[in-house]
Amino acid sequence: MSPKVNPLPVNAIDFLPVAEKAAIASGRWLGRGDNHAADQAAVDAMRTEFNKLAISGTVVIGEGQKDEAPELYVGEELGTGGMACEIAVDPLEGTDLVAGGREGAIAIAAIGAPGGIMPAPDIYMRKICVGATAKGRVDIEAPMAETLEVLARCYQRRIRDLRVIVLDRPRHEDLIAEIREAGARIRLIQDGDITASMSVGVSGTGDHLYVGMGGSTEGVITAAALECLGGEIQGQMWPRNDEERAKMAEFGMDDESKVLTMHELAPKPYYVIATGVTDGNLLKGVRYFADGARTHSIVMDLMSNTVRFIDTVHLLSRTIIREIRL
Ligand code: FBP
Repeated sequence: MSPKVNPLPVNAIDFLPVAEKAAIASGRWLGRGDNHAADQAAVDAMRTEFNKLAISGTVVIGEGQKDEAPELYVGEELGTGGMACEIAVDPLEGTDLVAGGREGAIAIAAIGAPGGIMPAPDIYMRKICVGATAKGRVDIEAPMAETLEVLARCYQRRIRDLRVIVLDRPRHEDLIAEIREAGARIRLIQDGDITASMSVGVSGTGDHLYVGMGGSTEGVITAAALECLGGEIQGQMWPRNDEERAKMAEFGMDDESKVLTMHELAPKPYYVIATGVTDGNLLKGVRYFADGARTHSIVMDLMSNTVRFIDTVHLLSRTIIREIRL
């Protein structure tokens, strides 16, 4: 098989430092109780790295408006000039996880063609995410019991063998009850539904389904990631009041019952890059040592049809105090 030639001048790997450096900067705040500082560190590092690249990038998804966190602003131009692209970022998904010293935080960026990533208001979105095995087989509007039956058939196992990830929130009480009633196992997470969705897209993690209401901007990034992994997300905007309906209207959205497919959420992604900040199901967190740090990342590249897991040792200087560990 001849390798696919990347027609773009900037490769997926060139974007890797964007996530790695955000992870290294924010991981320093592990367990220190300051989620704002952790987020700010990730944002600053990510911006610095994007601005070293030969791109003319525009931020279309800059996380943070919902909770007034520091952010890469929507409309912000990044790069030294060159490859035109759109950018969706969550410099630190799981700010509270880092501040509270918990597992599952990542730094993530998606890069797409101009017009390739859907701009979205920062409100909630109802989501269902599956991996390639169940792609095209689930329906966000179907009852949970039906979805789990379909999934059990796809994965050739019983419902009780499936693991479903749900954000641990009061708004999910009924959903959790339905999943329990159907007999599946549940992994309740504190935060981080992009990483949860990527986990169902990768075999061997033990996760089969992510469902529930999370951020809509996270939903867009998830769509790009699942496109790279061959999986699927379906979403429905979930405004809680008229103010949020007005926010939707600003983005030309008036029908909250509309099911958004992944091709609407991310019509043309190129690359998605994520680095673990704290240990998780998919990625290890940052480890620090006297002369540097070590990161674990996933680089998903639709231009070369590759998914790379990358273990990087970052050295502060050429004076290496001890051997690098295998
Ligand atoms: P942050 O990037 O702000 O840390 O978001 C964490 C997160 O858990 C997302 O993964 C999820 O989509 C969203 O928050 C859920 O929102 P809420 O915490 O308001 O339920």
